[in-house]
Amino acid sequence: MTAVAPVLRPGRDGDAAGFIAVVSGCWAEYPGCVVDIDGEAPELHALASHCAKRGGQVWAAEADGGVVGLVCTYPRAGGAWEIGKMYVAKPYRGSGVARQLVETAEAYARGHGAARTQLWSDTRFDRAHRFYEKCSYVRSGPLRAVQDKSNTIEFAYAKPLSGIAIERLDAAGAVSAEVPLARILAACVNDGAAVSFLPPLDMERARGFFRKVASAVARGERILLAAWLDGVMVGTLQVDLAMPENQPHRGDVAKMLVHPEARRHGIARAMLARAEAEAVAAGRSVLVLDTREGDLAESLYRSAGWVEAGRIPDYALNADRTPHATVYFYKRVG
Ligand SMILES: CC(C)(COP(=O)(O)OP(=O)(O)OC[C@H]1O[C@@H](n2cnc3c(N)ncnc32)[C@H](O)[C@@H]1OP(=O)(O)O)[C@@H](O)C(=O)NCCC(=O)NCCS
Repeated sequence: MTAVAPVLRPGRDGDAAGFIAVVSGCWAEYPGCVVDIDGEAPELHALASHCAKRGGQVWAAEADGGVVGLVCTYPRAGGAWEIGKMYVAKPYRGSGVARQLVETAEAYARGHGAARTQLWSDTRFDRAHRFYEKCSYVRSGPLRAVQDKSNTIEFAYAKPLSGIAIERLDAAGAVSAEVPLARILAACVNDGAAVSFLPPLDMERARGFFRKVASAVARGERILLAAWLDGVMVGTLQVDLAMPENQPHRGDVAKMLVHPEARRHGIARAMLARAEAEAVAAGRSVLVLDTREGDLAESLYRSAGWVEAGRIPDYALNADRTPHATVYFYKRVG
């Protein structure tokens, strides 16, 4: 930890030396990354003007009398804003300043009407990937090869930024969302949800579960949805498509989870509607799910047109290890 907490302020062209020092220092940490500012990143000489010309802005994190971090954002065609130049000097990592920087850029983009933020990250920058993933970004789209001396190949990351948004994750997205999805699962289970696990559920087990889900997504056997509220991943839902050969028209809806701090915004209802549409697109016409008798989800399913098929007493255990009944529902879709 550092003695002085960094302070954020809008960046200036006069920050060039500080920006270049931070960026060069970060690149130098990775073997094969060649630092050629004049040849390959001349915009760093006047980054504030460069961003302003594109309708965006740069911020500097300042500490101990110098620049220790930076980030910028600017609009791209189609309503998405790019997050760029996200660098923090090594001694200041882990202090929360990176998160402050990216959230500042996101708030600016959101305030200017951005529906989505996206960014490119060198495939070698593994620490950055973990960071973006914690910030609810998911990998999406193809890799990009940059014609430069470092032979840079980049992953694309993106997320919806404003309001409630539901997206279906492909295998790359599912792998990159393992941590935020595991957080949601652990929070729900430790809050008493009846979704196959008993509390306490730690992150390792929760991540292991979503690793298996990602694998099923990669095999085309599962639909995985994620929900964001103002740029934070807060919900998830799955449809299991791996049915016996005499039930190719069926799907099982499972693990509808909304983080306890994000409830009553209509997220579950929106996920359910999207799951039904995705299941229809996957050729399914009968969906099945079950829920603990008396849970809030029961009324949601009824109001969303699901039909009760029956209930089974003593089906599973509550957090306090007493048994509870489970209600089965089905819905014809498409
Ligand atoms: C069930 C759960 C997913 C609902 O998430 P949510 O995003 O808060 O739900 P929504 O805001 O979309 O609410 C949908 C409906 O659920 C019902 N509901 C949800 N929370 C409720 C509450 N606190 N009181 C009464 N009804 C409630 C209502 O019918 C609501 O519709 P309405 O807002 O139009 O009245 C969430 O509580 C959760 O994650 N619980 C733990 C996991 C779980 O039990 N999942 C179900 C597995 S089968």
